[in-house]
Amino acid sequence: MISCSHVTKQSIRSHYELSTLFYWLLWGRHIHHGLWHADESPEVAAQQLTDTVCELAQIAPGHKVLDVGCGMGGSSIHLAQTLGCSVTGVTLSRVQQGWASTAARLGGVGRQTKFLRQDAEQLRLPDGSFDRVWSIECTEHLFDKGTFFQSVARWLKPGGRVSICAWLAGDGLEQPSREQLVYDVCEGFVCPSLGSFDDYRGWMEEAGLEVEVTRDWTDQVARTWEICRDRVARSRVRWLARAVDRETVLFLDRFDTILEAYRTHAMRYGCLVARKPGVACE
Ligand SMILES: C[S@@+](CC[C@H](N)C(=O)[O-])C[C@H]1O[C@@H](n2cnc3c(N)ncnc32)[C@H](O)[C@@H]1O
Repeated sequence: MISCSHVTKQSIRSHYELSTLFYWLLWGRHIHHGLWHADESPEVAAQQLTDTVCELAQIAPGHKVLDVGCGMGGSSIHLAQTLGCSVTGVTLSRVQQGWASTAARLGGVGRQTKFLRQDAEQLRLPDGSFDRVWSIECTEHLFDKGTFFQSVARWLKPGGRVSICAWLAGDGLEQPSREQLVYDVCEGFVCPSLGSFDDYRGWMEEAGLEVEVTRDWTDQVARTWEICRDRVARSRVRWLARAVDRETVLFLDRFDTILEAYRTHAMRYGCLVARKPGVACE
């Protein structure tokens, strides 16, 4: 695992309070990578990632889903609209909570969704209350990932599943230059630590979950950052970021760093699905 001691809960919260508009300008409603099979547009690739996780997690109509780190509500709203799921989204950011609630109402699923502004590491929810826990690109922001998966195992019904997509510590990190690359990514994108595939498998298994799916999508998602870099170069986003704060400029400046980290596999991008033992959900 690679850790970055500069990152605090407050710095993560203010990153999302201030940067949500930038994410929307650069990425649209999903704040996550695209998954490319060929030359799809960035919008299609982003939706492909959501749809693929949905299939791997075997999400079914009517499921009760907890979306940890829900961003602008892109996944929550999609699951509610397409599968009739009832979804509770959790985000650290007040801006995102308001954004997601409004988008859900406008998208006709205001009643099926609810968005909480809470720290997932402090969240108290009834045991056995969700069919699925869904978390795309949020666990890299958590400080105690092992304890988080213990909570996930409690929140799930028996037979329920957790699906995550995460930025991961990759290969050869004993080399100082590669370790520095991942450290710079953590600093620029406010991640207190990045775990490896093995770390995540270990945390899930220690929580009593059975890992069913492990996918390495590093080479299929990396293009996201080439597109973001080109969009920044062609627009006034950097100028706007300068007016916001130093951290937002740092975030834009680290797009090449993350590309290099993926290219060299110092960082990897993974999807994991794990099941809580017991009788399968309806
Ligand atoms: C990269 S965005 C991903 C958003 C969303 N999952 C998506 O795919 O569009 C990371 C999200 O994690 C949330 N987050 C980070 N730390 C969190 C925490 N401790 N508790 C709840 N949400 C958190 C942020 O507020 C943000 O919504």
